[in-house]
Amino acid sequence: MCEQRPLATVLGSELELRLVNYRDTTPLHSGEVDDEPYGGGAGLVLRVDVAAAALDAVYGAVPQHRVVALTPQGRQLTQEVVEELAQEERLTLLSSRSEGFDERIVAHLASDAISIGPYVLSGGELPALVLLDAVARRLPGAIRAESAALESFSGELGGGLEYPQYTRPAEFRGWLVPDVLLSGDHGRIEEWRREQSRSRSVR
Ligand SMILES: C[S@@+](CC[C@H](N)C(=O)[O-])C[C@H]1O[C@@H](n2cnc3c(N)ncnc32)[C@H](O)[C@@H]1O
Repeated sequence: MCEQRPLATVLGSELELRLVNYRDTTPLHSGEVDDEPYGGGAGLVLRVDVAAAALDAVYGAVPQHRVVALTPQGRQLTQEVVEELAQEERLTLLSSRSEGFDERIVAHLASDAISIGPYVLSGGELPALVLLDAVARRLPGAIRAESAALESFSGELGGGLEYPQYTRPAEFRGWLVPDVLLSGDHGRIEEWRREQSRSRSVR
């Protein structure tokens, strides 16, 4: 993923990445990072002292910048949230496995809790990558400004979905590209695209 655009374009310039494994900084002698939930129940919970030790090791204290805990219980990741996060100078993403975080991590160490969607994954690695990719492509130079300006959820499309796109061949198995796109009439094309965007955005 890091070798492909747009991430590769901004890595080392607009974006620096640092990965920290809780196991490398855990204060527990055994190298453990999680423990059984108080009150009983299945699975293990990421310990608050372990998450704090990881933040201390990297930042020397609780960071002053935004610390996002990735959890299904967080606010939903939308393009609006992505735009907001892309403005941040620094971001720390906390992820977990098994039963998730000791709630004190979310309450006291994180400044935000974000979910990538209303479903449960096995761990926070994929959610962290999803958020990273979505934010990275909003950094300066990541993608062409025209592409970003007119894509799904952009202000230019009123927050709606992108219109249908086609490329060569103009006919394949009898499946045709709409005539208007071949007309060379930019006014009509623009109008058609906006109409298509509007109609597919209404659910
Ligand atoms: C198996 S999940 C824990 C689910 C938790 N017990 C619950 O019911 O909400 C383990 C970890 O995966 C990550 N995760 C799973 N689904 C996620 C989602 N939709 N959004 C963000 N993170 C998620 C979180 O870091 C979470 O703590």
